[in-house]
Formats: sequence, C-alpha cells, structure tokens
Amino acid sequence: MDQTSLVELKDKISSTYNTDELAKLRLLAFGRKGIVTSYLKSIGTLPVKERAKAGQEANNIRVELENLLQQQLDKIVSHKESIEDVDYIDITIPTDVTYGHSHPVMAIIDDLVKVFWQMGYQVVNGPEIETEWYNFEALNMPEGHPARDMQDTFYLEHGNLPRTHTSGVQVRWMEEHKPPIRVISPGKVYRNEDEDARHAWMFYQVEGLVVDKHVSLADLKGTLTTMIKGILGEDIEIRLRPSYFPYTEPSVELDATCIICHGNGKDCATCGGSGWLELGGAGMVHPDVLLRANIDPLIYSGFAFGFGPERIALIKYAVPDIREFWRPNIKFLRQFP
Ligand code: FA5
Repeated sequence: MDQTSLVELKDKISSTYNTDELAKLRLLAFGRKGIVTSYLKSIGTLPVKERAKAGQEANNIRVELENLLQQQLDKIVSHKESIEDVDYIDITIPTDVTYGHSHPVMAIIDDLVKVFWQMGYQVVNGPEIETEWYNFEALNMPEGHPARDMQDTFYLEHGNLPRTHTSGVQVRWMEEHKPPIRVISPGKVYRNEDEDARHAWMFYQVEGLVVDKHVSLADLKGTLTTMIKGILGEDIEIRLRPSYFPYTEPSVELDATCIICHGNGKDCATCGGSGWLELGGAGMVHPDVLLRANIDPLIYSGFAFGFGPERIALIKYAVPDIREFWRPNIKFLRQFP
C-alpha cells in the first residue's frame, strides 16, 4: 500500500464538506482504480505466506476509510440541518418598509454645519440652561436694560433661565480660548412669546463667532452671503439692514425674500406682509465684550451672528407656518425625505 497516497486521501476526506466531492473521494478509495482496490489486486502477486497478512491490512484500511467517509458524511448532513433550522431573512422579498429621515430643521442645521466646516469653523456646544450673566450681563445687557425686553424670558429658580439665544456661547468660548477663533454653536433656545406663523416659543439658533486680527464687516457680509447661498442656492435674494444688538457694533439683520408671497403679498402671514423674512442677526463684536474676555480690542476684532434654522427651513421648503415643524404631525414630516 502506498502510505503517502493513503495519508493524503484521509486528509482530503476529513477536510471535505461537499457531498459530491466526498463521492469522488470514495471512488479514489474503492473505485476500480482506487487505492484499496489496487492494493487488493496486488495481493495476488505476493508470495503466498505474505497474502494473509496483506489481506488483513487491506481489510483494516477499508474499514478505516469507510468509517472516515461515513463520519464526514454525517458531519455534512448535521451541518446542513442546523442551517435549515435557522429562520433566514430572504432579502430578495419585496418589502414595504418606511425608513426614517432627518427632521427638516435638523437637515438645515446639518447643512449649516457642513457649509461652516468647509470654511474652517469648529462646532461647539453651550448649556441650554444659562445664567443671567452669560445670557445678558456679559453681553452688555445689565439688569433693567431695555434690550432684555426684546427677548421674552422664562425664568427659573436661582436666577437661571432657559437661554433666550445662543449668544452666551460666544462669551463662554472667549473666556476659555484666545484668537484666532472661528466657531459655530447650534442649539435650542426658548422665549416666552406669542406664537404665529414665523415665531415659535422654542426654536433653534446657530450662533457664529470669529475673532482674529483685521476681521471686518466685509468679512461678515461675505460669510453670511456664502452661508445663505450655500444652503438656499445662488438665486436667493438677500439684504442686510442696520439693526441693534447691545453686544455688536455695528449690528445688522439679514433678510431673504419671502418664498410664500415672493415679496408682494401684503396679507402674507409668513413674512407679516413685508415681503422679507428675517433669518438672523449679526454684527461686529462690541469692544466691551472682547475686553470682558481679556481679548484686546485694539489688536483683535470679530464678528458674531445668530441664525434661525426654522426660518431658513420655511424658505427652503416653502412652508408657510413655522409651528408646523414642531407639531407631532408625521404626515407633514414625511414630506421631507
Ligand atoms: C438674537 O437672538 C441675537 N442673539 C442674534 C445675534 C447673535 C446678533 C450674534 C448679533 C450677534 P434675534 O432675536 O433677532 O437675535 O434672533 C435671531 C434669529 O432667530 C432671528 O433672525 C430668527 O431667525 C430667529 N428667531 C427669533 N425669534 C424667533 C422665534 N420666536 N421663532 C423662531 N425663530 C426665531
């Protein structure tokens, strides 16, 4: 018996997990030209006294190979049965699954983050429950300042409040980081105000702050234009108009033409009949705000802005009423895949 061929055959049987392949190996053992058959045939050529011993050996090998083939077949069968026991998901069956998607306001925030990220801004967070200091005083609005009335405030115990705007993040960031600064901070804000088609009592803002040497109003204008056109497309018509915020000087507000009345509906609830929708406030950071954060306003200047992503969503999706975004109305939300 060729021992090398026998060992190779046994190895092949033990490593075969396919019944067709196993049938071929059976032929290599017991077929007409198989190892065992050839050996049995060769016994007749041996001297008579050796034949009994060789016959016994051939029989042992036959039994061993039979057992090995049977064991391997059992393994294959039991493996197959265990597979068939599993509940398989047929991925080819047509399904009627409704997939979730981003909320339209979150999609606008994601777009804003992407546009600013491309301009090298870092995204930072601030607390939703703020102190009066960060929400007002550090932004040049001491107690009794009339500008506090511009933001109807909910008050909590111990002088804290749900922030009325994200501008407190500017102060917090400047306290911990020195120029060059280039950050945006999206988050929720709360105001105790009457709701209407463009005002909600809870809404998002995206705050932005840039502080460096030689930052100018022209940089602010360029940045805001890039942002709005990046989100609403090149064709959107925008304007900057002078405004007032105690923590920026000069201050501006950015409006876009109302998508609902296209600028000519005097009864339009979305824009209040003005033809323009205010999207955000901005301005050059007031020197006092820089000083309070130990940043020298003679060396550094900066701009800041705060935008309402809901207002941007109104325009992008031509939705006439901001309250729709936060009503539990799944049919409405499914329109914005
Ligand atoms: C502010 O909140 C300023 N902190 C913005 C700012 C930041 C100015 C940095 C200068 C420097 P204002 O109250 O105008 O400003 O709100 C900013 C934007 O938030 C608005 O333009 C609008 O897009 C959005 N917004 C304001 N009130 C509401 C509201 N009730 N519902 C929905 N969006 C609102």
